[in-house]
Amino acid sequence: MIKNKKLNIWDINTFKKNIFITTTPKQTRNLGEKFAVVLKKGDIVLLKGGLGSGKTTFTQGVVRAFRNKGFANSASFTLVNEYNANGATRLFHMDLYRLQPSNVWDIGIEEYLYSDNISLIEWPDRLVGIENYSQWNIEIENIGLERKIKIDKIK
Ligand SMILES: Nc1ncnc2c1ncn2[C@@H]1O[C@H](COP(=O)(O)OP(=O)(O)OP(=O)(O)O)[C@@H](O)[C@H]1O
Ligand SMILES: [Mg+2]
Repeated sequence: MIKNKKLNIWDINTFKKNIFITTTPKQTRNLGEKFAVVLKKGDIVLLKGGLGSGKTTFTQGVVRAFRNKGFANSASFTLVNEYNANGATRLFHMDLYRLQPSNVWDIGIEEYLYSDNISLIEWPDRLVGIENYSQWNIEIENIGLERKIKIDKIK
């Protein structure tokens, strides 16, 4: 079971400012799946946390919620994974680990970010200034076998 103050409530208020503890990848995926419900067109989600903390695992749950076939692959070698989410809206998953820190306007992904679709970004610190344009901040921390997943609505 995902540990959280407000169990069984999975609306936008559950995710506005909250901390969840998961103990398995499955629970992290399930949390991503629940979180996907609150995502709206145009949302940019920042996924922070060290290597292997669970950012891609969380994204897999989001992708599942959008009823895509299969899980998100690690996007370490391609900048953008694209999913046709629910007809009109598309879901973009970006892993920017290999990028040098750069200005968000310089690397040609702004057309994804500002496309009125939904973007989840791993290693968003590579994009200087992206915080100002983002709706959600998610920070994942390893605590032994557990993952502490802090979700904040920032805009
Ligand atoms: N509670 C948990 N939630 C998520 N992953 C977990 C958990 N417990 C163990 N794991 C393991 O931690 C790893 C998380 O990997 P994942 O690819 O999701 O991390 P990441 O944050 O995307 O890393 P990277 O920065 O390298 O892309 C997996 O091997 C997964 O099995
Ligand atoms: Mg990853």
